Amino acid sequence: MLQVNEMNRNAMTIQLEGPLPDYPVFVEGMRRAPDRVWTLNRSETELALKNALRYVPEVFHKELIPEFLEELRTRGRIYAYRFRPEGRIKGLPVHQYKSKCLAGKAFQVMIDNNLDFEIALYPYELVTYGETGQVCQNWLQYRLIKRYLEELTEDTTLVVESGHPLGLFKSRPDAPRVILTNGMLVGLFDNPAEWHRGMQLGVTNYGQMTAGGWMYIGPQGIVHGTFNSILNAARQRLGVGEKENLAGILFVSSGLGGMSGAQPKAVEIAGGVGIIAEVDASRIETRHNQGWVAKVTESCKEAFDLAAEACAAKQPLSIAYHGNIVDLLQYAAEHEISIPLLSDQTSCHAPYDGGYCPQGLTFDERTKMLSKNPEEFRRLVDVSLKKHYEFIRTLVGRGTYFFDYGNSFMRAVFDAGVPEICKNGENTYDGFIWPSYVEDIMGPVLFDYGYGPFRWVCLSGDPEDLRKTDRAAMECIDPDRRSQDYDNWLWIRDAEKNALVVGTQARILYQDAEGRTRIALKFNEMVRDGKIGPVMLGRDHHDVSGTDSPYRETANIKDGSNICADMATVCFAGNAARGMTLCALHNGGGVGIGKSINGGFGLVLDGTERTDEIIKSAMMWDVLGGVARRAWARNPNAMEVSREVNRNYPDSYHITLPYSVEEESVKSAVDALFDEN
Ligand SMILES: NC(=O)c1ccc[n+]([C@@H]2O[C@H](COP(=O)([O-])OP(=O)(O)OC[C@H]3O[C@@H](n4cnc5c(N)ncnc54)[C@H](O)[C@@H]3O)[C@@H](O)[C@H]2O)c1
Repeated sequence: MLQVNEMNRNAMTIQLEGPLPDYPVFVEGMRRAPDRVWTLNRSETELALKNALRYVPEVFHKELIPEFLEELRTRGRIYAYRFRPEGRIKGLPVHQYKSKCLAGKAFQVMIDNNLDFEIALYPYELVTYGETGQVCQNWLQYRLIKRYLEELTEDTTLVVESGHPLGLFKSRPDAPRVILTNGMLVGLFDNPAEWHRGMQLGVTNYGQMTAGGWMYIGPQGIVHGTFNSILNAARQRLGVGEKENLAGILFVSSGLGGMSGAQPKAVEIAGGVGIIAEVDASRIETRHNQGWVAKVTESCKEAFDLAAEACAAKQPLSIAYHGNIVDLLQYAAEHEISIPLLSDQTSCHAPYDGGYCPQGLTFDERTKMLSKNPEEFRRLVDVSLKKHYEFIRTLVGRGTYFFDYGNSFMRAVFDAGVPEICKNGENTYDGFIWPSYVEDIMGPVLFDYGYGPFRWVCLSGDPEDLRKTDRAAMECIDPDRRSQDYDNWLWIRDAEKNALVVGTQARILYQDAEGRTRIALKFNEMVRDGKIGPVMLGRDHHDVSGTDSPYRETANIKDGSNICADMATVCFAGNAARGMTLCALHNGGGVGIGKSINGGFGLVLDGTERTDEIIKSAMMWDVLGGVARRAWARNPNAMEVSREVNRNYPDSYHITLPYSVEEESVKSAVDALFDEN
């Protein structure tokens, strides 16, 4: 063994070297991930230990073995806490990082921002958001990735598999600098139980979307999407006019965590009134201190009274109700309170891992029961989800518009033993009785046109750079083209005033293919002219083309192809071929392992003409692949955009368009066939 180790040590110039760092002091009061529950047998436990120890020279193994075993026993996995740098991690100005190329420095900014105490949900456990979404699996990987990024050059590519840096591989300057995947499992093993085993063994990572894709920009990223969703929900269902806002309208939901924490801010920006239930007092405190929640109460009555007053005065107001969403809905149902807009954003993609707190348990009781009695916890989650479903049904019966907000809530209710939530009363093939927000709102109104969550980070860390990019982006939008453009124009006009930045100097702005391209070229020109420092462009994976997720992003694709993951896969491949700086592909983002395939990109704007060329081909591809697929599914708005693309870019693009059939002739032929048999 020693001989092999000696040979391997001598064959590596990039590795984790001694001495062992001191064991870190954990900051008191910081949120910590619940015990993920150790279920490995004897030989698997040995394997998990060996897997973690292969990152470090053998002289340290004796000291690390008991420490790693204890983490596995008490935390359900090996985080290698000892290797976490002491204190607060945060995304620093790009020039403060070491690397042989700009991209190598830029990705260190992004990774550190994802792990910032002010941003990450469980910073010590490398969880950025969504209960389980990690940057990488453990601190050994974190350190080694950073070492690799320091050595990255313009003609190598770093490959990262579920957080493990596989190595640097020769490529070329216009190839991606980083290719990464998270949680990809072979079909037979593509389920939460196998993932849980793999996670404990240290071989797979759940990256959510931008957590493992190193592109999270704090809750701002989702504020814009939430703003768009609730505004358009009200336009579609409550008769709110195209240029009107949510004045006097109540929106109720749950969750003030990583993503869900955007809800109160979004509802206020949209001019409405929101009550958001949250069981964890610390998360309420975070949002309250940030100014994203105006009022906090422990009483359902007070929450609804405050909301009624604000609605009557047509004043925007956000209220956090400290308690369970099921209690809040029970109160509304029993007191016949009208809730025009209702949703949910508990972490139902992982309800049995702690993502959903059952009615009757406090947050602390939930955390204890999760590790002490997971079976009973599971039972209580199912009971609570059934009641949750019943109260929503009552409210919907009285006129509430409920939509699933992309957290797999309806799927979780189905899994809890409620087949009636399915359209066909049996299985999920035909979807659910209530719409997912993508089905009714985001799909037709935004994704089919190509609008999606485009974003950027000013890598200098200078707020003035952000201000300049905000202004430049606004000038690239024609507010009179469509109502979506008007909303986006308003959004960017007021973005600074709305104080959305948490962490790095970042901005989200929904844009379509041409808008993203125009803005990207403009920013690159500004970098070239020395008006701003370098910029990282990216997007949420929750977008037009990047994600195949039948209960979410592809919920409005109705040709039966929403069980396929071809679109996200070719989007990833096409981005790599066109030279995006980082290309990511993940399993399960947003909705849980086995339920989606999702991918994203990062593109470093360095001001070069080479980057202009990448922008021109890659930004359009990144959006149009999805528009074309949506058009092929016969989605009217996507067909409209595709026809325009074929007309306007005859030398560069040609999208295959479908023929429609007369419904009646198909129906009568099929009826005749079935009648005969
Ligand atoms: N719609 C979208 O665009 C979108 C985007 C990202 C994530 N998501 C999904 O939304 C969900 C939430 O994401 P997140 O990052 O906020 O997760 P999170 O785990 O950080 O936050 C969820 C919050 O819900 C609270 N909670 C759980 N059960 C509760 C209950 N019964 N009553 C009241 N509060 C309860 C938790 O304490 C937690 O703070 C995830 O499933 C995620 O995948 C949706």
